[in-house]
Amino acid sequence: MPKCWRLLPLLAYAASVLASSQSFENTAIVRTVELGGAVVHVTTTYAIKSLEDGLKAYTIALGRDERAKTSYLEAKVKGQQDALQIKEHVLETKDDFHLVDILLEKPLSTNKTLNIVVETIQTHATEPWPATAGQKDEQALRYTTGLFILSPYATTVQRTKVKGMSPRIISYTTPKNVESFADNTAVSKSGATVVYGPYNNIPPSASSSFIEQYQQPITIHYNHDQAVLEVLKLQRSVEISHWGANLNTQDNIVLHNAGPKLKGHFSRLDHQTQAFYKRPAPHVLPALTLHLPSGIRNAYYYDTIGNVSTSRLRTAPSVPKNKLGTQFSVLEFKPRYPILGGWNYSFTLGWDAPLADYASYDKSTGRYIVEVPIMTPILGAVVNDEELTVILPEGATDVQFVTPFPALSNWIGTHVTYLDTIGRPSLTFKYKDLTPMHARSILVSYKVSWSAHLKKPVAIGTVFMGLFVLGAITRRVNLTLHQKKKVS
Ligand SMILES: *[C@@H]1O[C@H](CO)[C@@H](O)[C@H](O)[C@H]1NC(C)=O
Ligand SMILES: *[C@@H]1O[C@H](CO)[C@@H](O)[C@H](O)[C@H]1NC(C)=O
Ligand SMILES: *[C@@H]1O[C@H](CO)[C@@H](O)[C@H](O)[C@H]1NC(C)=O
Repeated sequence: MPKCWRLLPLLAYAASVLASSQSFENTAIVRTVELGGAVVHVTTTYAIKSLEDGLKAYTIALGRDERAKTSYLEAKVKGQQDALQIKEHVLETKDDFHLVDILLEKPLSTNKTLNIVVETIQTHATEPWPATAGQKDEQALRYTTGLFILSPYATTVQRTKVKGMSPRIISYTTPKNVESFADNTAVSKSGATVVYGPYNNIPPSASSSFIEQYQQPITIHYNHDQAVLEVLKLQRSVEISHWGANLNTQDNIVLHNAGPKLKGHFSRLDHQTQAFYKRPAPHVLPALTLHLPSGIRNAYYYDTIGNVSTSRLRTAPSVPKNKLGTQFSVLEFKPRYPILGGWNYSFTLGWDAPLADYASYDKSTGRYIVEVPIMTPILGAVVNDEELTVILPEGATDVQFVTPFPALSNWIGTHVTYLDTIGRPSLTFKYKDLTPMHARSILVSYKVSWSAHLKKPVAIGTVFMGLFVLGAITRRVNLTLHQKKKVS
């Protein structure tokens, strides 16, 4: 499945700067894996040295499984703010590794060194183990990755650090067949961190022969104190209304607790006792905290039964566009029953916000520009599937958009509602495996002519006029009946 990366993976990219194993050497590679639930954060620092003049790209390699789990990838020169451009090579079905070029800002000359930091987010990379747990049991997960950090270049030394959030690593794999690279400590553990390596003098490893001979899965089994959350489906609909100067957002959410399934029956008493002693079972989710935008109003939240009145919303004041604001509204969303491991919970959440907080008008081009947030991040959760629909004002023309990362697919449609005369243009975007890193905005821009601006008031005017005329007729009828009565 294609994933949403930060920059457009150019499928037809001809690797003009072919990854020649002679171009660079890795003086050191350090990979840090921060274990999580639905989302695992991996940071790899490559200390590189160029062996040729004028090199414009450095190539990294991901194992096939690793690529499948990677939903986000960003590369930077260490200490710099701006991300470097990346270009993915085409993945052939037979390949057991995947190459990604990182384009350097300026060509490197011979013997120049650079530190490149590659940050990735992996999703669906952990599983509950055991797959079922009693209400009073702890939640344990396991994570598997490849022992060696693959690279098309030779590496002087490499290490992998796997860190748990709490110092409760239950077990970890001891690698085999690493004598050629390690003196004695193939793996060591200290507190919540398991370190694989240092491994020395590794030949270019992005090759089938190296992978066949040396690459091996390593599994870390650990306790995890937070719920493992997946949004199986998010349908977000964002409606821009000039007439009401409003931006309405509605989310239909199917939430899934991907922790271990409950063994035995759920006991509300045990649950309350655990909550009382502040020792909640992480695989029993009683509530969810969401950070909604500031300045929202008319918020609503309901599930299949109705208003989820156990929830609490604290709204922060509005922050107009182009003003910096860090405030957000906080929704303590508390379903009527705790969501147990393996359970789904569907609910709808919506709010209005002042359009001025999201939109601007460019006089020189006559275009409106609206920032549409792709999602509301839920800490540590992954959104497996999203369909985002942006409904533009009636009569919007010349619609254009810019996405922060490419959608799997997108299309333009028409949305017809009550009181619309011709329907409104709409844009739909589909995404997969979004993480809090993807909580960015799509910029939508369009024009609205004066006549289109007038159409809606005219349509409403006509309806009101219709009601008025109808009212007048009924009154007249009543009147005449009345009069007739009087007469008789
Ligand atoms: C690069 O470094 C090597 C080893 O230190 C040296 O032999 C070589 O002359 C250097 N090349 C250039 C172009 O500086
Ligand atoms: C829903 O419940 C909230 C309490 O969380 C309450 O403030 C709100 O008025 C209720 N909404 C409706 C439509 O009943
Ligand atoms: C949760 O929803 C998914 C997708 O809609 C479905 O496949 C799964 O069976 C549901 N699980 C439960 C326990 O209802």
